Amino acid sequence: MAPNKSIEPLKLGVLISGSGTNLQAILDAIARGEVHAEIRIVISNRADAYGLQRARQAGIPTVIIEHRRFSSREAFDAELAGELNRAGVELVVLAGFMRLLSSVMLRAFPDRIMNIHPALLPSFPGLHVQKAAVEYGVRFAGCTVFFVTEGVDDGPIIIQAAVPVYPEDSEETLAARILTQEHRIYPRAIELFAQGRLKVVGRRVIVKGWQAPDDTPALINPPLEEPK
Ligand code: GRF
Repeated sequence: MAPNKSIEPLKLGVLISGSGTNLQAILDAIARGEVHAEIRIVISNRADAYGLQRARQAGIPTVIIEHRRFSSREAFDAELAGELNRAGVELVVLAGFMRLLSSVMLRAFPDRIMNIHPALLPSFPGLHVQKAAVEYGVRFAGCTVFFVTEGVDDGPIIIQAAVPVYPEDSEETLAARILTQEHRIYPRAIELFAQGRLKVVGRRVIVKGWQAPDDTPALINPPLEEPK
């Protein structure tokens, strides 16, 4: 389904803490016309986040809200919610944002905060997950876009991508393979939201108008056939 140009673009607020490659992927997807949205504001909790440069280069207003200035997580969240509401944000997109949100933000944006995690949740929540996956010896890893809830990395799942893990992989080589897929699935999740096609039912997210194909081939790693 192509973006419906007749409706107003979805107003996004993007929260970052670092490099902002997911922010860049979303900006590029919007520019290609694949996501019917506009980024109204980029907020970072760190002044040195390179993602701020990416936002400025794209002409997007930026705000730095350093969490250390606040006596509590709730006070930080109240400031965050205030900035986002003043910018008219309809969907909050966490993109490499390294702060846990309190109920203050969740109440301000119920089922309207998305996050991306570089693992196939519920496997490997938390930090350093690419390293954990390599060390565990899994054959598949990947990334997950989900709606943020009170818990850590355990909200209703919108979309996932799976990538093979190879014996020679390091944390870095796996992280790079996963990041490539993050940059594909995050814009897709936002576009589905913009089209009004995501419905949260309990733990699950229903994608309206999506029919499962008859035969999705299984992914097997290592492959059944030896490479010639
Ligand atoms: C990504 O792996 C993302 O999954 C995690 O933070 C990492 C950096 O994201 N949340 P970005 O390059 O800052 O978008």
